[in-house]
Amino acid sequence: MSDLTQLEEKILSDIAGADSEQAIETVRVAALGKKGAISERLKTLGAMTPEERQVMGPAINGLKSRVSEAIGARKQALHESAIDERLARETVDVTLPVRPSPLETGRIHPISQVVDEITAIFSDMGFSIAEGPDIETDYYNFTALNFPEGHPAREMHDTFFFSPDDTGERKLLRTHTSPVQIHTMEKQSPPIRIVIPGKTYRCDSDPTHTPMFHQLEGLVVDESANIANLKWVLQEFCKAYFEVPSLNMRFRPSYFPFTEPSLELDIQCDRSGSEVRFGEGDDWMEILGCGMVHRNILRNVGLDPDVYQGFAWGIGIDRLAMLKYGMPDLRAFFDADIRWLRHYGFRPLDMPTLFAGLSA
Ligand code: DAH
Repeated sequence: MSDLTQLEEKILSDIAGADSEQAIETVRVAALGKKGAISERLKTLGAMTPEERQVMGPAINGLKSRVSEAIGARKQALHESAIDERLARETVDVTLPVRPSPLETGRIHPISQVVDEITAIFSDMGFSIAEGPDIETDYYNFTALNFPEGHPAREMHDTFFFSPDDTGERKLLRTHTSPVQIHTMEKQSPPIRIVIPGKTYRCDSDPTHTPMFHQLEGLVVDESANIANLKWVLQEFCKAYFEVPSLNMRFRPSYFPFTEPSLELDIQCDRSGSEVRFGEGDDWMEILGCGMVHRNILRNVGLDPDVYQGFAWGIGIDRLAMLKYGMPDLRAFFDADIRWLRHYGFRPLDMPTLFAGLSA
């Protein structure tokens, strides 16, 4: 058997044995590449006698074209089977039901919903939203808010204190959102119209108290803010939040160190049935504390109390949520129980707005 016949058999059997597109490429390079077996043979033609060349030229070139053709055919076959294999592997069963998206299964926590509802109402009235730190100093949580040293009102707050730091200062978890009043007035000059939603902390736990809870603070400071304005703002808020056309309110005198006079607000309700209804009935429910900003607070932030005056209020957000949506136990709000959230949670795309309805 001649050398060329042997070479051809060897290459053809390599071609037949190549089982991937990569393998056939290796065979091609070994035969027809620059230094491939057939290319090397072609190079020998130059050194041959014309007679030899007349025989060997067509023989080697014939071999080259047969091998190229065989490689091309094998390549094509391997390419097609690679596609077939991929099609078989990547089949999609279009009859399967569509998996529900997170938008269908996810729920917004009632606290987030109520914060969105409340901020929608106050934004509509021209208020901005302010925030402040959860970890506070004694100064912002108490002293600047006119709590005298050793005053029993400090004890009433059941404060969580941190261990003293290197300077001996004891930081604390804010017991109310009122310190943000001070931070805001230090940074911004009047007119100020803000609401402050946020987490607050007190050492307390029963069906209506948790160690961490939420408040919404409101603050208005300008040269003419007065109790009539306060009353109107709170009345509009209560009507919008409880989604009732009218609502009676009652103010009772109270005490907070940072307001003078201090008031508590009750709203009209009916508790005769299994649930509390607002805007009707002859019962009352306390919902918030409020008052005119104490002159000392204005002085503490460098405002002249003979020029500026303001009003403020603080509401428990969790309690507002319980009153509107009927949850019996506050502690379940923070248990992260998915069944509770499915029951009481809100659909993610149902953003509360005043024009489309808050809880619709
Ligand atoms: N900070 C008070 C508390 O947590 C609530 C409060 C009452 C806030 C009256 C106010 C206010 O801004 O004017 O008990």
